[in-house]
Amino acid sequence: MKLFVDTGNVAEIEPLASLGVLDGVTTNPSLMARVSGDPRETLKEICRIVQGPVSAEVVTTEAADMVREGRELAAIDEHIVVKVPFTKDGVRACRTLADEGIRVNVTLIFSATQAWLAAKAGAAYVSPFVGRLDDIGATGMQLIREIVDIFDNFEFGTEVLVASVRHPIHIVEAARMGADVVTVPPAVIEQCFKHPLTDIGLERFLKDWEKAQAARA
Ligand code: E4P
Repeated sequence: MKLFVDTGNVAEIEPLASLGVLDGVTTNPSLMARVSGDPRETLKEICRIVQGPVSAEVVTTEAADMVREGRELAAIDEHIVVKVPFTKDGVRACRTLADEGIRVNVTLIFSATQAWLAAKAGAAYVSPFVGRLDDIGATGMQLIREIVDIFDNFEFGTEVLVASVRHPIHIVEAARMGADVVTVPPAVIEQCFKHPLTDIGLERFLKDWEKAQAARA
């Protein structure tokens, strides 16, 4: 399963990229609104750092406008994936952009039929939002199970990108279900690195080694 980070902040992306485990980045208008400077320059810099798929979302709502905006975003860098919302216009725009060879991530997916229609429209990725479903008392991961099952039956070539991740358990479940990608906020990636037994174990190893060295001296 590929790991993407869900942020538009270069300062958060750089240290994660240096770990050698980051495959890509997802942004959305809310995330980009938190970043200062020219968004195009920010996206270019993110692509340079990550050298993998970087989702950049359109902010228009009519298909023709989305296509124009999508082409402009795709021209920023070869790594840009154009993100469009799941609406009829978004699906139309997805089909047009995909036919031009531009990779599209269809976002705001909340049902298996939406994911299926986006795949039929040639989406490179579908982004089901698990956390936002959990927020309203539904089970977000159940949707991932359904989409992975459906995509396994056909040959869409569309990757299931688990989005709106809130905690490490979402990541574990996504991996067990065979999702292709998980996009994770930096704070949740940080949580994955922490385990008290790792800290205690390392401290003990180093102390034992020091003691043995002192005894030999
Ligand atoms: C990523 O592609 C999505 O835009 C993002 O994961 C949404 O997450 P949120 O529900 O925490 O805003």
